[in-house]
Amino acid sequence: MEQDQRNVTKVLQADATGVAEAAGLLRAGHVVAFPTETVYGLGGSAMNDRAVAAIYAAKDRPSFNPLIVHVALLAEAEKLAKFTEQARALADAFWPGPLTMVLPMRAGSGVSSLLRAGLDSVAVRVPAHPAALDLLGAAGPLAAPSANPSGRISATSAQHVMKGLGGRIAAVLDGGPCQVGVESTIVGMIDAPTLLRPGGLPREKIEALIGSLAAAVRTDRPNAPGQLDSHYAPHLPVRLNATDAAPGEVMLGFGPITGDLNLSESGDLSEAAANLFRMLHELDARVATAIAVAPVPNHGIGHAINDRLKRAAAERG
Ligand code: TXA
Ligand code: MG
Repeated sequence: MEQDQRNVTKVLQADATGVAEAAGLLRAGHVVAFPTETVYGLGGSAMNDRAVAAIYAAKDRPSFNPLIVHVALLAEAEKLAKFTEQARALADAFWPGPLTMVLPMRAGSGVSSLLRAGLDSVAVRVPAHPAALDLLGAAGPLAAPSANPSGRISATSAQHVMKGLGGRIAAVLDGGPCQVGVESTIVGMIDAPTLLRPGGLPREKIEALIGSLAAAVRTDRPNAPGQLDSHYAPHLPVRLNATDAAPGEVMLGFGPITGDLNLSESGDLSEAAANLFRMLHELDARVATAIAVAPVPNHGIGHAINDRLKRAAAERG
């Protein structure tokens, strides 16, 4: 574990050699960032409390905020959690893919209790990324929060991971830019199916299969605390629903509302999601007073984009 404190983070290519080296590090209890279709994850063995503790430490993440367990196959998820018929239907339809389900933990599953923040439920997903699936086959199940310092902009490239966590983790597996660009949709499947976090899988697709999702109830201890008010925050303040930049601001456009960068000139929401965190990282590095952001339509994956923008703009706690 001491080695994770050294100042060198290896950048490994996401080919067979790189995956094998990353898997070796993970099996030895180290933390390694890896690509998924949504964002980069910061992986550690889900069965190893020390590896999970190293994830929290590298991110400066509050330990009341539980982590998602990533597996290669539904059959592996079933060893860790209890699936209802509805949960299995969602897994059949959307895995591998940007859907996380919170389910009752299976007793004796061996999943780190630190990872669950003491809860008797567990969040699981099968990512749709070939290198992630290879890595999970060799070293899974892996706990993996997004690979960014807690509260900051998520990472959608190995360069973003290095910028935020370089020197604090053993390695990053570089699989290029993430295709979806926003985190997975999280659905609670313990009582009535509940939308805990909008994400890469539009709620409309889930509701088409299992009917309407309940809204998450807010508690002091947030149950999906990417749902803390301020999260995904750039260093610069963020101003939403802007139609043009005020003097000193940089502008993030959408569709016909142009800017220094444009999420999608053609108004394509999937393209906008894929560009969102990269463009926030880029604009945040400019000399400016704030980032002004054009309005983004609130349907499909637009829900997830607006959720992230709202939290990026929220009063910092
Ligand atoms: O796309 C994603 O989901 C990415 C990639 C790496 O897979 N991961 C990700 O992890 O976004 P993270 O840690 O940034 O967000 C996980 C969310 C947190 O808000 C956490 O509170 C929630 O999942 N969560 C985890 N376990 C839970 C549980 N047992 N009950 C309720 N929420 C849970
Ligand atoms: Mg996160």
